[in-house]
Amino acid sequence: TIYFGAFIHSISLSELEICDKGAIGVDSNGVIKFVQRDIELARVYDEHADWKDAEIVKVGGNGFFFPGFIDTHTHASQHANTGLFGKTTLLSWLSTYTYPMESSLSDLPKATTVYNNFVSRTLSHGTTTCAYYGTIHVPSTNLLADICLARGQRALVGRVCMNTDLSPEYYRDVSVEAATKDSKASIDYIRSIDPQGEIVLPIVTPRFAPSCTTECLTALGALAHEEKTHIQTHVSENKGEIDLVASMFPDSSSYTDVYETTGLLTSKTILAHAVHLTADEIALVKKRDAKIAHCPASNTAITSGCAPIRHFLDAGLTVGLGTDVSGGFSPSILEEVRQAIWTSRFVAMNTSDASKLSTEEALYLATRGGAAVVGLEKKVGGFEVGMEFDAQMIKLGDVKQGGDQEGVFEEGPVDIFGFESGDEKVQKWVYAGDDRNTVAVWVRGRLVHKTGRFTIA
Ligand code: GUN
Ligand code: FE
Repeated sequence: TIYFGAFIHSISLSELEICDKGAIGVDSNGVIKFVQRDIELARVYDEHADWKDAEIVKVGGNGFFFPGFIDTHTHASQHANTGLFGKTTLLSWLSTYTYPMESSLSDLPKATTVYNNFVSRTLSHGTTTCAYYGTIHVPSTNLLADICLARGQRALVGRVCMNTDLSPEYYRDVSVEAATKDSKASIDYIRSIDPQGEIVLPIVTPRFAPSCTTECLTALGALAHEEKTHIQTHVSENKGEIDLVASMFPDSSSYTDVYETTGLLTSKTILAHAVHLTADEIALVKKRDAKIAHCPASNTAITSGCAPIRHFLDAGLTVGLGTDVSGGFSPSILEEVRQAIWTSRFVAMNTSDASKLSTEEALYLATRGGAAVVGLEKKVGGFEVGMEFDAQMIKLGDVKQGGDQEGVFEEGPVDIFGFESGDEKVQKWVYAGDDRNTVAVWVRGRLVHKTGRFTIA
């Protein structure tokens, strides 16, 4: 397939490439074979005569191809709670809303509905890769992996582990052995349905330090090491949580050190939130090359705080964005792009303008940054020869001659007037766009979502 028309992607943290007329050739395995710039369709075959029979997917005047978004942290199991957080903070939010909902997903028909809906929602917002938390239940967590594989969304799927009495008796691992055995069972299942790990990968998931004993954390660190899997957990999200960790782990020098001493702080570890890290903790994360999932909507909703992302980037940390549903209220990484930019402005109001993230930087975190967080930076996040084609077709709303007419709203919230530069289209999409602008989505060259506005030619 040759994808023809405008394409836009990050080429560095601060720079987008905006190509008004390009051609991206993708083979039947979904691998990008060529990228041509400033070219007419007829001339593509001058260099690539053997692509004469390729299918052509064109994006027209006000649209462009953009890499698929990477959601580096979200809880599929909390989707049905979206919007419910009231005035809680982390620990009261967990007991009020989260444990009861997650526990109810032992019911497989209910899990089927919730997981199918959430995968539909994230795909329709352009998310082509997602790092998911399931629940402690192996069958429903495995079902989530089945759904991602069938629907074609790249995913890391984790069976959640927790064995302390912070979680209620009805929703808790009964022993360290149970936590590791069930985690291993889920790892084995996910590897059995996708042996090459082309779409779905297992990820070891200790919920967060207060949910697990030192023995449990150590056993899960060993499991991840033996099985060579990724690891995901939460760190330093909320002040009350940090105090709790200090009282539960008196021998550790910090929250991050709990993960360090239990073998969980590795280059394949995704740490969500990291709102209140100390300078020593930032240095430790850097030393281990662990990754950060920034979840700004959640951090504001449950009043955790403003993570200093500009500072993390300056310190050389690898950062991506996460929706953290249902701490976060939106399945959209585009929303997190805006929220990351807003949060950086609140940090700037208390420090200096140097703390602000630019639109370009936030889009980098949503794509290339996220890809690096989940270990897929060579495969996805941009349009480069050798990468796989994970992309979204973006269309802004057409303005019909004569002004506003019926139907305009169905075409999305962003009007285009025909005089915008490529850069202005991006700004309009980021600040005024939503899922109505994402008219088609591909993973490895497979069409995984489309709306009524998608046309091939
Ligand atoms: N810390 C432990 N569990 C959770 C969770 O489900 N969501 C968030 N945001 N933080 C957590
Ligand atoms: Fe979370």
